Amino acid sequence: SRRVAILISGGGSNMAALIASMTGDHPARPCLVLSNVPDAGGLRRAAEAGVPVATVDHRAHRGDRPAFEAALHRELVAAGAEIVCLAGFMRVLTPGFVGLWEGRMLNIHPSLLPKYPGLDTHARALAAGDAEHGCTVHEVTADLDAGPVLGQARLAIRGEDTPDTLAARVLPLEHRLYPAVLRRFAAGDRRPVLIEAGASLSNPPPLA
Ligand code: GAR
Repeated sequence: SRRVAILISGGGSNMAALIASMTGDHPARPCLVLSNVPDAGGLRRAAEAGVPVATVDHRAHRGDRPAFEAALHRELVAAGAEIVCLAGFMRVLTPGFVGLWEGRMLNIHPSLLPKYPGLDTHARALAAGDAEHGCTVHEVTADLDAGPVLGQARLAIRGEDTPDTLAARVLPLEHRLYPAVLRRFAAGDRRPVLIEAGASLSNPPPLA
Protein backbone atom coordinates (compact mmCIF):
# COMPACT_ATOMS: atom_id res chain seq x y z
CA SER A 1 0.00 0.00 0.00
CA ARG A 2 1.02 3.64 -0.46
CA ARG A 3 3.06 5.23 2.32
CA VAL A 4 1.60 8.52 3.53
CA ALA A 5 3.40 11.23 5.51
CA ILE A 6 1.28 13.87 7.26
CA LEU A 7 2.69 17.34 7.97
CA ILE A 8 1.19 19.28 10.87
CA SER A 9 1.73 22.42 12.94
CA GLY A 10 -1.01 22.13 15.55
CA GLY A 11 -3.67 19.97 17.13
CA GLY A 12 -3.79 17.54 14.27
CA SER A 13 -7.49 16.76 14.14
CA ASN A 14 -7.31 16.28 10.36
CA MET A 15 -4.20 14.15 10.86
CA ALA A 16 -6.12 11.98 13.34
CA ALA A 17 -9.01 11.59 10.88
CA LEU A 18 -6.58 10.58 8.13
CA ILE A 19 -4.77 8.07 10.34
CA ALA A 20 -8.05 6.55 11.55
CA SER A 21 -9.20 6.11 7.97
CA MET A 22 -6.15 4.16 6.81
CA THR A 23 -7.19 0.67 7.89
CA GLY A 24 -8.57 -2.44 6.27
CA ASP A 25 -8.68 -2.32 2.49
CA HIS A 26 -7.56 1.33 2.36
CA PRO A 27 -4.88 1.68 -0.34
CA ALA A 28 -2.55 3.66 1.97
CA ARG A 29 -0.94 3.52 5.41
CA PRO A 30 0.60 6.30 7.53
CA CYS A 31 4.41 6.16 7.64
CA LEU A 32 5.25 9.45 9.41
CA VAL A 33 3.77 12.48 11.14
CA LEU A 34 6.11 15.43 10.80
CA SER A 35 5.68 18.73 12.66
CA ASN A 36 7.48 22.04 12.34
CA VAL A 37 6.30 22.91 15.88
CA PRO A 38 8.06 20.82 18.57
CA ASP A 39 5.12 20.85 21.01
CA ALA A 40 2.30 20.47 18.45
CA GLY A 41 -0.53 18.55 20.10
CA GLY A 42 -0.83 16.31 17.07
CA LEU A 43 2.56 14.70 17.74
CA ARG A 44 1.31 12.98 20.88
CA ARG A 45 -1.88 11.86 19.19
CA ALA A 46 0.15 10.37 16.33
CA ALA A 47 2.52 8.57 18.69
CA GLU A 48 -0.47 7.20 20.62
CA ALA A 49 -1.80 5.88 17.32
CA GLY A 50 1.50 4.10 16.77
CA VAL A 51 2.66 6.28 13.87
CA PRO A 52 6.35 7.35 13.77
CA VAL A 53 6.80 11.06 14.49
CA ALA A 54 9.50 13.62 13.77
CA THR A 55 9.99 17.35 14.25
CA VAL A 56 11.83 19.80 12.02
CA ASP A 57 11.71 23.10 13.90
CA HIS A 58 11.64 25.97 11.39
CA ARG A 59 13.04 28.31 14.06
CA ALA A 60 16.22 26.22 14.21
CA HIS A 61 16.88 27.23 10.60
CA ARG A 62 16.75 30.98 11.27
CA GLY A 63 14.83 32.08 8.20
CA ASP A 64 16.79 29.75 5.94
CA ARG A 65 13.82 28.24 4.14
CA PRO A 66 15.84 26.00 1.79
CA ALA A 67 17.66 24.48 4.78
CA PHE A 68 14.36 23.93 6.61
CA GLU A 69 12.86 22.29 3.54
CA ALA A 70 15.95 20.15 2.94
CA ALA A 71 15.54 18.81 6.46
CA LEU A 72 11.82 18.13 5.83
CA HIS A 73 12.70 16.36 2.60
CA ARG A 74 15.28 14.17 4.30
CA GLU A 75 12.72 13.03 6.88
CA LEU A 76 10.15 12.28 4.19
CA VAL A 77 12.60 10.28 2.11
CA ALA A 78 13.91 8.42 5.18
CA ALA A 79 10.32 7.39 6.00
CA GLY A 80 9.77 6.16 2.46
CA ALA A 81 6.88 8.59 1.92
CA GLU A 82 5.09 8.33 -1.42
CA ILE A 83 2.24 10.74 -0.68
CA VAL A 84 2.44 13.85 1.54
CA CYS A 85 -0.66 15.27 3.21
CA LEU A 86 -0.45 18.79 4.60
CA ALA A 87 -2.93 18.93 7.50
CA GLY A 88 -2.86 22.28 9.25
CA PHE A 89 0.77 22.75 8.25
CA MET A 90 1.25 26.48 8.58
CA ARG A 91 4.51 27.11 6.70
CA VAL A 92 4.53 28.29 3.10
CA LEU A 93 6.60 25.92 0.95
CA THR A 94 8.91 27.14 -1.82
CA PRO A 95 8.41 26.18 -5.47
CA GLY A 96 11.62 24.16 -5.24
CA PHE A 97 10.30 21.91 -2.47
CA VAL A 98 6.82 21.71 -3.99
CA GLY A 99 8.37 20.63 -7.29
CA LEU A 100 10.02 17.64 -5.59
CA TRP A 101 6.58 16.38 -4.48
CA GLU A 102 4.38 17.69 -7.26
CA GLY A 103 1.53 15.30 -8.01
CA ARG A 104 2.12 13.58 -4.65
CA MET A 105 1.30 16.34 -2.15
CA LEU A 106 -2.19 17.31 -0.94
CA ASN A 107 -3.43 20.12 1.27
CA ILE A 108 -6.68 20.87 3.05
CA HIS A 109 -7.80 24.48 3.18
CA PRO A 110 -10.77 25.90 5.11
CA SER A 111 -12.56 27.68 2.26
CA LEU A 112 -14.23 26.93 -1.04
CA LEU A 113 -11.16 27.62 -3.19
CA PRO A 114 -10.53 29.61 -5.33
CA LYS A 115 -12.21 31.81 -2.73
CA TYR A 116 -10.07 32.93 0.20
CA PRO A 117 -6.61 31.45 -0.14
CA GLY A 118 -4.40 32.32 2.84
CA LEU A 119 -5.59 33.04 6.36
CA ASP A 120 -8.79 34.12 8.19
CA THR A 121 -11.00 32.31 5.71
CA HIS A 122 -14.09 32.08 7.92
CA ALA A 123 -14.11 35.81 8.74
CA ARG A 124 -13.59 36.66 5.08
CA ALA A 125 -16.50 34.48 3.92
CA LEU A 126 -18.76 36.18 6.48
CA ALA A 127 -17.53 39.68 5.61
CA ALA A 128 -18.28 38.99 1.94
CA GLY A 129 -21.86 38.00 2.78
CA ASP A 130 -21.41 34.58 1.18
CA ALA A 131 -24.32 32.14 1.29
CA GLU A 132 -22.01 29.11 1.26
CA HIS A 133 -18.69 28.14 2.79
CA GLY A 134 -16.67 25.00 3.32
CA CYS A 135 -13.33 23.38 2.70
CA THR A 136 -11.20 22.16 -0.17
CA VAL A 137 -8.59 19.46 -0.66
CA HIS A 138 -6.24 20.26 -3.51
CA GLU A 139 -2.96 19.20 -5.02
CA VAL A 140 -0.13 21.44 -3.87
CA THR A 141 1.52 23.45 -6.62
CA ALA A 142 3.90 26.40 -6.51
CA ASP A 143 0.98 28.86 -6.27
CA LEU A 144 -0.35 29.09 -2.70
CA ASP A 145 -3.72 27.30 -2.24
CA ALA A 146 -4.25 27.20 -6.01
CA GLY A 147 -3.51 23.63 -7.19
CA PRO A 148 -6.04 21.34 -8.84
CA VAL A 149 -9.09 20.72 -6.64
CA LEU A 150 -9.55 17.10 -5.53
CA GLY A 151 -12.61 17.63 -3.36
CA GLN A 152 -14.86 20.14 -1.65
CA ALA A 153 -17.38 20.01 1.16
CA ARG A 154 -19.88 22.84 1.48
CA LEU A 155 -22.40 24.13 3.97
CA ALA A 156 -24.92 26.96 4.10
CA ILE A 157 -23.88 30.01 6.12
CA ARG A 158 -26.46 30.98 8.77
CA GLY A 159 -27.41 34.51 9.75
CA GLU A 160 -26.10 34.00 13.28
CA ASP A 161 -22.74 32.52 12.22
CA THR A 162 -19.50 33.96 13.57
CA PRO A 163 -15.98 33.00 12.47
CA ASP A 164 -15.87 30.60 15.44
CA THR A 165 -19.18 28.88 14.72
CA LEU A 166 -18.24 28.56 11.07
CA ALA A 167 -14.87 27.07 11.96
CA ALA A 168 -16.62 24.62 14.30
CA ARG A 169 -19.02 23.53 11.55
CA VAL A 170 -16.40 23.34 8.78
CA LEU A 171 -13.89 21.26 10.76
CA PRO A 172 -16.08 18.10 10.92
CA LEU A 173 -16.56 18.47 7.16
CA GLU A 174 -12.77 18.54 6.79
CA HIS A 175 -12.60 15.30 8.76
CA ARG A 176 -14.98 13.67 6.25
CA LEU A 177 -13.54 15.22 3.12
CA TYR A 178 -9.82 14.65 3.57
CA PRO A 179 -10.03 10.87 4.20
CA ALA A 180 -12.45 10.49 1.28
CA VAL A 181 -10.06 12.32 -1.07
CA LEU A 182 -6.99 10.47 0.17
CA ARG A 183 -8.66 7.10 -0.35
CA ARG A 184 -9.36 7.96 -3.98
CA PHE A 185 -6.03 9.66 -4.59
CA ALA A 186 -4.02 6.75 -3.20
CA ALA A 187 -5.88 4.48 -5.62
CA GLY A 188 -4.92 6.74 -8.54
CA ASP A 189 -8.38 8.33 -8.87
CA ARG A 190 -8.33 12.13 -9.09
CA ARG A 191 -12.02 12.72 -9.73
CA PRO A 192 -13.20 15.34 -7.23
CA VAL A 193 -15.07 14.31 -4.08
CA LEU A 194 -18.09 16.52 -3.42
CA ILE A 195 -19.81 16.63 -0.02
CA GLU A 196 -22.87 18.70 0.85
CA ALA A 197 -23.44 19.20 4.59
CA GLY A 198 -26.74 17.78 5.75
CA ALA A 199 -27.31 16.10 2.40
CA SER A 200 -25.94 12.67 3.22
CA LEU A 201 -27.97 9.86 1.72
CA SER A 202 -30.01 7.83 4.16
CA ASN A 203 -33.10 5.66 4.26
CA PRO A 204 -36.43 7.40 3.82
CA PRO A 205 -38.65 7.53 6.92
CA PRO A 206 -40.50 4.30 7.74
CA LEU A 207 -44.00 3.89 6.35
CA ALA A 208 -46.37 4.46 9.23
C1 GAR B 1 -7.77 23.16 9.68
O1 GAR B 1 -8.97 23.90 9.74
C2 GAR B 1 -7.12 23.33 8.33
O2 GAR B 1 -8.02 23.40 7.26
C3 GAR B 1 -6.42 24.64 8.50
O3 GAR B 1 -5.89 24.60 9.82
C4 GAR B 1 -6.73 23.77 10.63
C5 GAR B 1 -5.86 22.71 11.26
O4 GAR B 1 -6.58 21.97 12.23
N1 GAR B 1 -5.38 24.80 7.54
C6 GAR B 1 -5.00 25.99 7.06
O5 GAR B 1 -5.47 27.05 7.42
C7 GAR B 1 -3.89 25.91 6.02
N2 GAR B 1 -3.49 27.22 5.62
P1 GAR B 1 -6.04 20.55 12.72
O6 GAR B 1 -4.60 20.72 13.18
O7 GAR B 1 -6.94 20.19 13.87
O8 GAR B 1 -6.16 19.58 11.58
